[in-house]
Order: sequence, then structure tokens, then C-alpha cells
Amino acid sequence: MYRSHSCGELRLADVNKEVTLSGWVQRVRNLGGMTFVDLRDRYGITQLAFNMETNAELCEAARKLGREFVIQVVGNVIERSSKNKDLPTGEIEIIVTKLNILNKSEVPPFTIEDNTDGGDELRMKYRYLDLRRSAVRKNLELRHKMAFEVRSYLDKQGFLEVETPVLIGSTPEGARDFVVPSRMNPGQFYALPQSPQTLKQLLMVAGFDRYFQIVKCFRDEDLRADRQPEFTQIDCEMSFVEQEDIIQLFEGMAKHLFKTIRNIDIPEAFPRMTWHDAMKYYGSDKPDLRFDMKFVELMDIMKGSGFSVFDNAAYIGGICAKGAATYTRKQLDQLTDFVKRPQIGAKGMVYARIEADGNVKSSVDKFYQQDTLQKMKAAFNAEPGDLILILSGDDAMKTRKQLCELRLEVASQLGLRDKDKFACLWVIDFPMYEWSEEEGRLMAMHHPFTSPKPEDVPLLDTDPASVRANAYDMVINGVEVGGGSIRIHDAETQAKIFKILGFTPEKAQEQFGFLMNAFKYGAPPHGGLAYGLDRWVSLFAGLDSIRDCIAFPKNNSGRDVMLDAPSFLEQKQLDELYLATKPVEK
Ligand code: AMO
Repeated sequence: MYRSHSCGELRLADVNKEVTLSGWVQRVRNLGGMTFVDLRDRYGITQLAFNMETNAELCEAARKLGREFVIQVVGNVIERSSKNKDLPTGEIEIIVTKLNILNKSEVPPFTIEDNTDGGDELRMKYRYLDLRRSAVRKNLELRHKMAFEVRSYLDKQGFLEVETPVLIGSTPEGARDFVVPSRMNPGQFYALPQSPQTLKQLLMVAGFDRYFQIVKCFRDEDLRADRQPEFTQIDCEMSFVEQEDIIQLFEGMAKHLFKTIRNIDIPEAFPRMTWHDAMKYYGSDKPDLRFDMKFVELMDIMKGSGFSVFDNAAYIGGICAKGAATYTRKQLDQLTDFVKRPQIGAKGMVYARIEADGNVKSSVDKFYQQDTLQKMKAAFNAEPGDLILILSGDDAMKTRKQLCELRLEVASQLGLRDKDKFACLWVIDFPMYEWSEEEGRLMAMHHPFTSPKPEDVPLLDTDPASVRANAYDMVINGVEVGGGSIRIHDAETQAKIFKILGFTPEKAQEQFGFLMNAFKYGAPPHGGLAYGLDRWVSLFAGLDSIRDCIAFPKNNSGRDVMLDAPSFLEQKQLDELYLATKPVEK
């Protein structure tokens, strides 16, 4: 028997028991006649005590233990004289009577502590050591618990978990596909699913009624803190439903997760906002509503006073930061530099402080009379002590996005983005299409299987860009945690949508014939949603990046530095696959 108890288990009630523990050596401390070893496993840390006077040989052996040695000990539980309130096992220790080294360890390349000295890249290279740290392990424990609660909720609602294949054809979700060559079909490739979208729709045609799957999805896109090339969806689809049914059921799941994982009750319904309003008031389709700072448009008030930047702008808008009039000139200059960064691209920033007497003191005072500035102040409902920040530009959408970045930055600086506070929101009524400069055509905003709002169907022929979709996203704290839509379920409408998206009938048939054919055999009305599991976990764990809740994540260049993947193939393997690679251009 390797162990009678785990390292996180023993308490005062176990005093006088003889126990056997196994685990890793976290730390060895020599204090004169005593040597203490912190023994660690997944469940916790237990202090082992070795006494030089009573057992010198054993104590000498303990002193030679290195960090991360794997050992087994037998000993007696005693009450500690100096207790450690921070450890669940901190009231006891083990007086060791037998020590068995199960395996030695080289000195680890970084300390296996909560505050490790290891940099990102090093910890990723030795991820199995990083995973020994309780901070990282806790994220995976949380992930397990969330997946478990998801299954429990959906099972109770009658959902069936069905696995769909990973080697499939392309599923357009707006990113590039990862492809896999087929040896048995020379020159041909599978694509890894960007999501099981078409397959779950086929399961509805098959009559499965309620499907879900906790499933890996693959997207070859630029990585960010909330994006990984392979990530996990909680993918769901339902038949005979309308948007409201889906919203209710998945809001219920969100509330179930809040309750079971974070013990947070959310009795009220989540607010809903149209995509149009989200863009108008927050410059984003995923507004962070933990704080207010809604945009106020100032074209009517600020144009025509001779300040050419505003006079020539198509959009002038601002935000009001409560109590931030104390911002120094230096801080304001830094904010200006922030919005002028190439990634954001604003030309400049105008600011106005509301002084104690109610007067407005702005950076463009020479162009504006106090009465105009007072109108501006009124538009924001601003009070003494507030700070107004204004951006303008010749493209309203671009300027709103810049103002969105400024809003988030200021909120971060003012400490308004508390990770323990949650603001949930449904964004609804997304446009069906968005114009792609790169492709020179309309693209599906959600995906091409999303249905138009019935009242907008006539616009498909006359003004497709203004058609709204039966599509919805759930947003928490400015993170898109899920999205879905009511689908098209007849072959005719689907063919029409493909046509608007620039597919010839032949191309549509070639790529999606299987789906359009299936729709000819009695497809029920259906719709669904997919939550991003990684994003949910990182929100609940308060992480800055979803990487930290994935056991073996990729780095920002899409590499697994531990496995050193991707890698070049041997010529033999390339030959078998009928592949020739081009020399890599440096
Ligand atoms: P969508 O593309 O919106 O919808 O994806 C659903 C959710 O998956 C998460 N997500 C990601 N998480 C981490 N890394 C990524 N690269 C990544 N991409 C997406 C997000 C997102 O909200 N088939 C549709 C769903 C449907 O219509 O039912 C789909 O995939 O949280």
C-alpha cells in the first residue's frame, strides 16, 4: 500500500494514528535538531518531522532529500506545537518512522510554488511541473467541476451527448481551417471542425431533438488572450424552438453555473441589448457592463464652433469618468498616447474637467464658450469632479471602436473591472452580414446557416446588408462566452443565403450539398448555441488568459513548446501523403 491517506487529509482528529503518505518533496528545512519536510500531492501539503535525537539516521536521510523527490513515509500523527493556520493540515505533523525514496528528481528549472520564479516560456516547456503548482491545478479542478455541472444540467433537460467526427470537411465559422492530408485519398484533405455546426444540424434532421457535446474545435486564427487554436465548446442544438426558448434554457444553465460554482444567485433575467445599441453606446458587440460610461454623441453640440477637428468629423462622442477630474496632465497625456497607438489609431483626445464650481475646463477652451461646454456637461449628466473624454473621426464605426478601447482603459485605471463582479448580457439582433474588405463581399456575421428575422426577409433581395439575424451572443464582463442562432431549415432559403454570400449554385452544392439535401427530408425548425468552456472557466477563475485553464495550451505563435509541435515531417512521410513542401521563406 503506497498510502493510507492523501497529503491534504489529516486533522487533529487523526492524532496518534499511524499513517502512510506518498508524494513530492516541496521543501526541506533544517532547524537544529529537527528537519521538516513539506510533502505535497494533488490534495494538499502535510508537514513531516524528523528528529535527530530519536532517529539520527532517518534525519540524515531526510536532509539529503532534494526538491521534487517522490517519497513514501510511515509515521505517527501528532499535534503541532506551532500551528499553521494557512494550511488545512496545519494543526498536525507526522513524526516519521520510515522513509522510502520512490524516485529522485533533478533540480526543477523553476520553483514549484504559487509565486514561481519561472517565466512563461519555461513553465510551458515544463508544463507537467507547472501543473504541480496549486494555482494552475485549481484551474483544472474548476474546469472539471464546470464540465460536470454542465453535463448534469443538460442531462436533466433531456439533452443527449453525441460525439461528432474530428476528421471532416470544412465548416465555415469565419476562421481558417486546420487541414489533415489523407493518405488513402491522395491529394485530398480533411479539415478539423471549427465547430460541429453542420453535424449538429444533421442530428436535428435525424430527430435527436436535444443534442450537446463538450467538444474540441479548431481554428487557425491569430491568437489573443481569449483565443486558442484548439479550444473547447459546450455545443448545443435543439429542435422545435424559437430564440426565446434557447435564451431561457441557456440563461438557466448560466445561472446554474453561477450558483454551483461561485455560489452566486442571479434571480433577475439577464439584460438584453440589440447589436445596434451595443455598437452605438459601447462601440463593441461585447460591452463590459460592470460599469456605466455609456457613449454620448456630441455632433449637435460641438460642431460649428470653429474647431476644425470636430467641424470636419463624421462622429464626435465621449465618455464621462465619474470622479476622475483629479487626473493629472501627465495621466491625460498618457491616455492620449494610448488612443494614438497604431493598434487603436485615434488622432487625438479632447478632455474636459468639471470643476468644483461647476465650470467646465477643457483642452479646447479657446474654441468653445462656457455655455456650449455647459450643454456638453448636461449631455453627460456630469457633476463636479467628473472627467469627460472625447474622440472624433471621419468614420463613425472606427471612432466608436477607439472610444470603446478608451472606455475599457479608463475603467481599468479606475479599478472598475473587478474580477469578482459579474455583468451578464444577451446581445441580440445581430446583422446577418458584414462587409469584408479583404474578400470584397458580404460575409455571414455568425455563420451561413443562421436565419434572417422574418420581418427582414424581404430586404434579402433589396438591401441584404441591413437584414438582421435570429442570432444572439451571451457576454459576461466584456467577454463573448457564447453565441448561437435559429437556423435556416429549408433548402430554398439556404440556397438563397449561399447566393448572397457569393457562392455559385455549383459551389454551394459541392460544399454544403449534404446539408441542403438533408433539408429535403423533413428538417424540423431548430436552433442552438455554443458556449466557450475555456472562457467560462477563466472568467470564474479570474484569469487573464484562457491558457491558464488548459492543461497543455499553445503559445502565442500557436506552438506547443513542450512537444515542440508543429514540426517538419520526414521525407518518407511526405511521400506517403503525396505532399511536397515549399522551402520556408525567412
Ligand atoms: P462561435 O464561433 O460564436 O459559434 O463560437 C462559440 C463560442 O466559442 C468560443 N470561442 C473560442 N474560445 C476560445 N478560443 C477560440 N479561438 C474561440 N472561438 C470561439 C466563444 C464563442 O462564443 N457553431 C457556432 C455556435 C452556434 O451557432 O450554435 C459557433 O461556433 O466563447
